[in-house]
Amino acid sequence: MRLPDPALVVLVGASGSGKSTWAAGRYLPHEVVSSDALRAVVGSGRYDLDASADAFAVLEQVIDARLGRRLATVVDTLGMDAARRQRWRDLARDAGLPAVAVVLAADDATCRRRNAERDVPVPAKALAGQLDRMRTVPGELAAEGWEVVVVPGDEAPPATEPSRPAQPAPNPPADDRRTSTGVEVVLQVSRFPWGEEPARWLAEVAGAADALGFAGVALMDHLVQIPQVGRAWEPIPEPYVTLGLLAGLDTSLRLGTLVTPLTLRPAGVVAKAVATLDALSGGRAFVGVGAGWWEREHAGFGVPFPPAKDRLDRLEDGIEVMRALWAPGTKAWSGSRASLPETTCYPRPAGPVPVVVGGAGERRTLRIAARLGDACNVRPEDVAAKTAVLRAHCADVGRDPDEVAVTVLDVSVVGSDRADVARRVERLRGRTAATAYAARLHAGTAIGQRERYAALADLGVSTVFLSLPDLAGADDLGRVAALLA
Ligand code: UTP
Ligand code: MG
Repeated sequence: MRLPDPALVVLVGASGSGKSTWAAGRYLPHEVVSSDALRAVVGSGRYDLDASADAFAVLEQVIDARLGRRLATVVDTLGMDAARRQRWRDLARDAGLPAVAVVLAADDATCRRRNAERDVPVPAKALAGQLDRMRTVPGELAAEGWEVVVVPGDEAPPATEPSRPAQPAPNPPADDRRTSTGVEVVLQVSRFPWGEEPARWLAEVAGAADALGFAGVALMDHLVQIPQVGRAWEPIPEPYVTLGLLAGLDTSLRLGTLVTPLTLRPAGVVAKAVATLDALSGGRAFVGVGAGWWEREHAGFGVPFPPAKDRLDRLEDGIEVMRALWAPGTKAWSGSRASLPETTCYPRPAGPVPVVVGGAGERRTLRIAARLGDACNVRPEDVAAKTAVLRAHCADVGRDPDEVAVTVLDVSVVGSDRADVARRVERLRGRTAATAYAARLHAGTAIGQRERYAALADLGVSTVFLSLPDLAGADDLGRVAALLA
């Protein structure tokens, strides 16, 4: 129970009932005014009964002075003298402090036993008198006008903090979440209709995605919602903060961005965030990187937006920088253009972090992916053509093409049945004709999408990042279940 503070606190109880112990556990030594202690100050020791009158005179003076200054004052005497109690209460009232009586109601046997164990016990007869007196004192207190009368032990057990479960070790990444189509499917979340409870919405979506068999969750990295997805005033959370929240959940999802424009932050700082994400998630991080394209978000946040060539240089150098910072050791490093005087980045990632290069510019981006990427991400309709270019670049730069996976971002309308698909297309198409919209967004049922995914797998695609343009929340994910079987 929380007592008012500052307050006058008067202890009441027989010798050995635990008054001094109670006070010592809750107040600073100088806040407790003790007749025993003052006997030792003005007399020969704590039990010098001949010094009682002087000790009580000092005690009253100290109480006066402390209450006059509105300081917390705990009076540690037997507390059985009603006249003194009244005087102290009046002083407290004058000072504007609440008056609290604390009744130490240990049973008689306990008081006798504790008394007997003392160096200088209170004479048995005196203790018996105190115990006798204690049968009536609590009744007196009830009639005296204390703001609070507490009987420790009577209260509800101390409100212990609800015991928090220890934070479990992060789950390892899911072993293999390839679907029967041959690809693994990562949920790309790009819209956040999360209402009043963003964290709950995210946790529920991630939990449902994990349960359904998605291999991971990917987030866009934009400062302002992009027009292809929603309106500028709709929420789009900072991805690394958000991925941190997702990393703390009990899932096996891989977590990363698709994609982080290396114009927004220096690549080294991205490497730092990704390494931390990987460490916190038990090795489940990946990172998508791109050259950046949306000028508006740069202007709006005061971030330079250099010409395309420079942005692509930044992408290329940035991947090298990230890999250098993740590598063992802290030695100086120099890449093809960039260099660092040291590569000190702790925590290191828990394991190798896949770098997905986004963008399909054939001359530079795919070459960068061939040289430095673990994957390159393209549109589903471009897979065959871009894979051919990627492979040519791999041959050119001497990279084994099997080391560079091909992934796709698939923005698709998925309905539970034909009617549901039609309804969704109608709701989403805006001014685009229904058939054109349905074709562009591969609108279909989950079963229908399976054939597309199987075809993508045949073309060598390893991962589909599935973005549902009308994802409402966790309950809404079930309609893609058949795609994940
Ligand atoms: P206290 O010394 O706190 O009692 O405890 P008191 O009420 O202030 O006694 P007087 O009036 O000054 O004589 C007495 C003994 O009981 C033990 C303390 O450690 C001390 O030795 N004690 C007290 C407990 O073992 N448990 C308790 O909850 C309180
Ligand atoms: Mg005491």
